[in-house]
Amino acid sequence: MHTAFPGLLAGNVFAPRPPAAAAATSETVQAGAASLADIADAHSRELAAMIVEPILQGAGGMHAYPAECLTVLRQVADRHGLLLIFDEIATGFGRTGELFAAEHAGVVPDIMCVSKPTGGYLTLAAMLCTREISATVSNGRAGALLHGPTFMGNPPACAVANASLGIIDGGRWRADVAQIGACLVSGLAPALDLGAVRDVRTIGAVGVIELHDAVDVTAVTTAAIRHGSGSGRSGTSSTPCPRTSAPRRMSTRSPRA
Ligand SMILES: Cc1ncc(COP(=O)(O)O)c(C=O)c1O
Repeated sequence: MHTAFPGLLAGNVFAPRPPAAAAATSETVQAGAASLADIADAHSRELAAMIVEPILQGAGGMHAYPAECLTVLRQVADRHGLLLIFDEIATGFGRTGELFAAEHAGVVPDIMCVSKPTGGYLTLAAMLCTREISATVSNGRAGALLHGPTFMGNPPACAVANASLGIIDGGRWRADVAQIGACLVSGLAPALDLGAVRDVRTIGAVGVIELHDAVDVTAVTTAAIRHGSGSGRSGTSSTPCPRTSAPRRMSTRSPRA
């Protein structure tokens, strides 16, 4: 996306992708940590913050990586006085098996972005931050971060959010995610026998079917809806993501296409 606006957006420094969780070893995690530290050293005067999707990169190919990488990020951020921002828009509210993905590593970010399940999938997002950051923003120049989206804090979305968060607060989400995860593991396993499929993986209540070629969005979405599931898509990955706050009924039929 950044490449579509050359010269117009503030520059970003991209770190290499962390090792895949399934194949990671302490050596590959250490190598990733060293390269991140080098990048932070080289750019420490230009950087303000580091932002990641914790333990699961979504648009980047549904790439799951080891939780230890979050600890490394925290250490590097602290060493250079950088803010650590976790985008938990896809991973938050139980999706990966912990309430927030940050908890897999026991790491506390300075800022956390949440959306999607916040409003029970109606439009409602929130930026959560430490008191220090909140005080800095609130005491700053008026309008410093002023942005008023059309649907900000709209009452129907807030009402749905209250209901959705109430379901999560009820405490059953952990068992639900485990159940959805088990269904995904057994339900998606036969897809590995299909010629078009390169890999099948799951993390919490996320299932990923990675294809050799680009996903046919219409065919995948139609099949997912027919089987009673939501599905996302990213490059060669199709991602069945049943709602974690939905009633516990889910198709266990095997994928056929
Ligand atoms: C990880 C992640 N971050 C950010 C976004 C954008 O979220 P929003 O539409 O709430 O701005 C998405 C949307 O799919 C996402 O999956």
